[in-house]
Amino acid sequence: MEYTNLGKTREKVSRIGLGAWQFSEAWGVTEYMQAKSVVSKAVELGINFFDTAMVYGLGLSEDLLGRALRELGVRRDEVFVTTKIPGDFLNPLDVYRSVEKSVEVLGLGYIDGLLAHWPPCWHNVPTRVYARALERLVDLGRVRYLGLSNFPIELVESFRSSLSKHDVEIFQVRYNLAERWADEEVVPYAERHGITIQAWSPLAKGALTGKYTLESLPKFTDVRAREAVFHPENFDGVWRLVQLLKSIGERYGRTPAQVALNWLITASPVVVPIPGAKAPEQVVELANSVGWRLSYSDWRALDELSRRVAISYSAYYLDYKPQQV
Ligand SMILES: NC(=O)c1ccc[n+]([C@@H]2O[C@H](COP(=O)([O-])OP(=O)(O)OC[C@H]3O[C@@H](n4cnc5c(N)ncnc54)[C@H](OP(=O)(O)O)[C@@H]3O)[C@@H](O)[C@H]2O)c1
Repeated sequence: MEYTNLGKTREKVSRIGLGAWQFSEAWGVTEYMQAKSVVSKAVELGINFFDTAMVYGLGLSEDLLGRALRELGVRRDEVFVTTKIPGDFLNPLDVYRSVEKSVEVLGLGYIDGLLAHWPPCWHNVPTRVYARALERLVDLGRVRYLGLSNFPIELVESFRSSLSKHDVEIFQVRYNLAERWADEEVVPYAERHGITIQAWSPLAKGALTGKYTLESLPKFTDVRAREAVFHPENFDGVWRLVQLLKSIGERYGRTPAQVALNWLITASPVVVPIPGAKAPEQVVELANSVGWRLSYSDWRALDELSRRVAISYSAYYLDYKPQQV
């Protein structure tokens, strides 16, 4: 396994992490033993960077992940777990209450990385108010490092300027070969300020693995039922990417998923993909996406093709046929 430093700290985190949203009804892994087998394989292969969130199964994901790490006997200081507090909980009362609950549910004594999951769009809590509350949690030892997920840079700046002693060490954003908005602002900002980016949906929710085809796109019953990358209008471009991932992968003896993840880590030294896995076999494949690098020309070929893939997020809405015209 390859490792890198987290943000500006000396914390050693694996160059590929593991997302745990899969441990919830949204993705279907709700049995403890199944979740444990996934975490166990990750630990065995040297993955020490795990991500969960309060809203994943409303506690179930934190519960299954924390319990698995405890039962596997992993040394506390050899694992780094991020969890996320939703934008709806960012008033100071809910910050303290929910973080206390999260510490209890995870059962790991403290939180390594706490990220605001998204900005508080419903309650208009001023940035400086929740920034100060989150910083206090670091002072009080409940949380070790702070991060922001799905925040525009304007708000990141405002958040950072509200902190007095600590800084943002982690970003979490959607970043995959088919959806590269993070390239515009977030990646250069993170590189400049020494912030680790946890790339979420790095496989475009499985679309880049090559196992779903336009002809046999499943009717997803999980969280992907209305996922933009799987809309036929968008999947065409995704499929062209998959073909190139396949042909490049064949030369390296790698799968499309491994090439897609390697493209991300080759793109930037601060990017750490956090793919989700539902089975140990998937973890093995994901873990082997690091420890090697794509050549410059292969990286560029994917870069160029992916720039021509445009994902429309309004596609499902545009399908709607008004009852009366
Ligand atoms: N901050 C945020 O707002 C945010 C949002 C989304 C996700 N996240 C985090 O990012 C993590 C990953 O994102 P994600 O789950 O949305 O998408 P993802 O990692 O792009 O896709 C995960 C899915 O791909 C399939 N897959 C994984 N490994 C595979 C393999 N080796 N071979 C074939 N298929 C494989 C699995 O589904 P199937 O086997 O069913 O196809 C799996 O559930 C989450 O667990 C979560 O921690 C954060």
